[in-house]
Order: sequence, then structure tokens, then C-alpha cells
Amino acid sequence: MTDCQGDVEGASTPMELYEKLSEQGVKVRSLKSAKADKTKVDTAVQLLLKLKMDYKQMTGHDYKAGCPPSENDAAPNNGPAADVAGEDDTVDPWTVSTTNAKGVDYDKLIVRFGSSKIDQELVDRIEKVCGQKPHRFLRRGVFFSHRDMHQVLDAYEKHKSFYLYTGRGPSSEAMHVGHLIPFIFTKWLQDVFDIPLVIQLTDDEKYLWKDLTVEECHRFAIENAKDIIACGFDINKTFIFSDLDYMGSSPEFYRNVVKIQKHVTFNQVKGIFGFTDSDCIGKISFPAIQAAPSFSNSFPHVFGSRKDIQCLIPCAIDQDPYFRMTRDVAPRIGYPKPALLHSTFFPALQGAQTKMSASDANSSIFLTDTPKQIKNKINKHAFSGGKDTVEEHRKYGGNADVDVSFMYLTFFLEDDEQLEKIRQDYTSGALLTGELKKILIETLQPMIAQHQERRKQVTDDLVKQFMTPRPLNFNL
Ligand code: TYM
Repeated sequence: MTDCQGDVEGASTPMELYEKLSEQGVKVRSLKSAKADKTKVDTAVQLLLKLKMDYKQMTGHDYKAGCPPSENDAAPNNGPAADVAGEDDTVDPWTVSTTNAKGVDYDKLIVRFGSSKIDQELVDRIEKVCGQKPHRFLRRGVFFSHRDMHQVLDAYEKHKSFYLYTGRGPSSEAMHVGHLIPFIFTKWLQDVFDIPLVIQLTDDEKYLWKDLTVEECHRFAIENAKDIIACGFDINKTFIFSDLDYMGSSPEFYRNVVKIQKHVTFNQVKGIFGFTDSDCIGKISFPAIQAAPSFSNSFPHVFGSRKDIQCLIPCAIDQDPYFRMTRDVAPRIGYPKPALLHSTFFPALQGAQTKMSASDANSSIFLTDTPKQIKNKINKHAFSGGKDTVEEHRKYGGNADVDVSFMYLTFFLEDDEQLEKIRQDYTSGALLTGELKKILIETLQPMIAQHQERRKQVTDDLVKQFMTPRPLNFNL
């Protein structure tokens, strides 16, 4: 099975599959309304999800109850739907939402996306190979899923190195704390493996998707580059580029874009990304531009003409649809498939039903926020798993699993023992919501202030150096 294939549960036509889906939908509803055993409901929901994904793969569009497929719905061999996780979860590059207060069901997402879990064995192996204590994001399952990481480590052990690729869509001047997650982790990977890194700023993507001018998007790319540089990347090993600048200046990059474009059909991108006939053609061809940095010869100033250097992409799992497509195309154009490390989402202040998103200012703590804004936002908006009154809280305890302040601490508090003590105290009722929020405020305020201080040191000249195509310093 390729990354972009599922199977169709024995149904050979869209209509047969549609009928199976309708039956399964009825079954799930009746099990739920009969309050059936949880395992039975979960099994039925799993099958329903699988059928939905197979249906999308077969027809190129989503299943809708009451709307049978038309005769023209053939089997286009599309990629798996980007948007079906738990029954109520939506995860794609534009939307993350679930009705579950604990957040997206990441185990189900692994099954739906066909990736692999980062289990303890892999964490131990990373520790052994790089010789460093695993980053807290690995210890705590923030990075929870991967593709081909064992292969990357096998090669690394045989002295065959790899490079890192990650990115940012510069849709506004200010990035939020959630955006830091992949960059903090990428910096750690760069340090412990001592490897080169390319960072794509998709100002072209934001121009195509948002109501912004080309000039604004390009300006945001430069502003965002400052925040990224402030994460501490090694200038000798890091190349940051704006698509609007680099695409026009690198024939090698553009050649790869065109090769990818030739190997993906409209039907496939419709299936993977949900594009419709009324989307502009820029959007339809954009995935090839996000795919191209996965191939080393897109950067001749760094890798010369070598096309065989393995790429590893750290990102949140919302970006996976781009790279499922990339991995499907890679062998057909003679390149290695990029490997991936996926993170969970840093939740919105209002709760883990959605990710922190720049388009909703109240949901986010921005890297530009003052200590006072941070304090007010957390006190006012951070969803609490505490009880309504102090008496009840002391008696019954809080629910750390749905508490946003506790979730944020799992991302940023370094000390495992302290975190566990906070969890226990909150759950027992010894620690009150206000006290938990205070710990979070005191963790985030200095962290963001330090980021702002480092960002101030990033001069225009330094940005220019990071963004100039040039050789990097590394041994592969
Ligand atoms: P963008 O700008 O939406 O997001 C940048 C990176 O941050 C991750 N991310 C989050 N991680 C945790 N919690 C959140 N709440 C959260 N919100 C965003 C994203 O997954 C991403 O890793 N099209 C891309 C830009 C891009 C890219 C790439 C990203 C181009 N090439 C390669 C990753 C890898 C975008 O708009 O990202």
C-alpha cells in the first residue's frame, strides 16, 4: 500500500461503498443511543471512519448522508482524506477541531493518516543515537507520530546523515506560542544531530489563501524570519527562504516544482486537500511548492547536485497532507521519500477543541504580548478543569486532562517531577485553578520576554545573511 492508498472494504463501486457507509452510520447511531459498550461503539466508529476515507479516496469527495454518488464518480486513486480523524475531529492544514474537550484523538489520527506512533522504543533509540536526553516534547508525547524515523536513524548510525526541513506560512506579523513548537524542536534536532536545516516561508501560499497583497506577505515573511532566528538556529547550518524570492532565483528548485506538478493530478489534490472547481489555480498547484524543499537538489548551493540526501520534516500533523503527497511522488521522480516527525497541537486558550490560531486573537498568546497581556489572557480565557467553587474543588479535585493551563505547562515546564506534582495536586484538589494559572503565567512571562529580547538582537543584516543562498557548514 502506498502512502496515498487505503482499501475499500470489499466494495467495488462508489454506490456499494455509499450503501455500506449509510448502513454503518445507522449502526453507530443506534449503538450510541442504546448507550452500548464503549469498545463496541469505538469499533463501529473506526469502521465508519475508514469507510468514509475510502469513499473519499474512491470518489474524490466527502460522503454526505442522503447524497448518493453520481455515475461519474470513478475511482481516481486519491490520497486519504486530510480531514477525518476521530468521528468528530477535523484535521487539515486549515482547520483543527474536535468536540472532545481533551483534544483531537491522536491515536485515531495515526490510524487514519497511516503514520506510526512514536513509542518508547523510538524515544529510547533517538536518545541512544544522538547521545542526549530526549527533548521534553519527545518524553511527553508532544511529538507523537512519525514516518520512517527508524530508517533515518539506521542511516545515521552508518554515518549517512540527513537534513531538516520545516516552514511557516507568514499570514501576519506576529507569530503565536503554538508556532514555536516545531521550531523549538527543530532547533533541538539541529543541535543534537549537528545537521543542516532549510526553512521555507510560504509567502506565496498566504497571498493565494488570504486577503493580503504580495508585498504584505513578503514583509510578514521577513518579520516572521526574525522570530524564527530568535529561536537560536545556527547561522552556519541554516538557510531560510521566502518562496517569492527563492522560486525565481533557483532553476533547480523550480525544476523540482514542475516535476512534482507533472506527477499529481487535479483529482488527487482535490481528494487530499478538498480543493473545488472554484479554487484559483494557484492553490491547486501550491502543494508542489511545499513539497519541493523535501528534495536535496532543490538547494544546489547547499547540497550541490546530490539528490539522494534524506530529508526529515518536523511539523504539526496538520501539514501531513502535503507530505503524504510528496512521499507518493518521490519514488516516481527518483528521489528518497522525506521522513516526518509530527507534533500534536498547542491548544487554543478556550480549550483543546481547537488549536491556537493566529486568526483568533483571543485564542492566542502572541510572541509580542506583554507580561500584562499574558497574565490577563490566561486569567480571563484559559479554560479551566477546576470545579465551580473552592469547596467543591478541594473535595473533588480538578481535571488536568481538559485544563488548558495544565496542557500549556506540559509543553513548556522542563522539570518532569514538578509537572507530575502539579498534576497530582490539581487532581486531588490541593492546587486551585488560580494557583495553577499563576504557575503558568510565571512560566510563560519570562519565556516570552526572553524571546522578545533575542528577537531585538536580530538585525536586518542578520536576516539577510540567513536568507542568502550560500554553502552551509556540515559533514554529510
Ligand atoms: P503555519 O504557519 O500554519 O504553521 C507553522 C508551523 O507551526 C505548526 N503549527 C502548530 N504547531 C502546534 N500547535 C499549533 N497550534 C500550531 N499551529 C501551527 C504547523 O504545523 C507548522 O509546522 N504551509 C505551512 C508552512 C510550511 C511548512 C513547511 C510547515 C511550508 N513548508 C514544512 C511545516 C513543514 C504553514 O502555513 O504553516
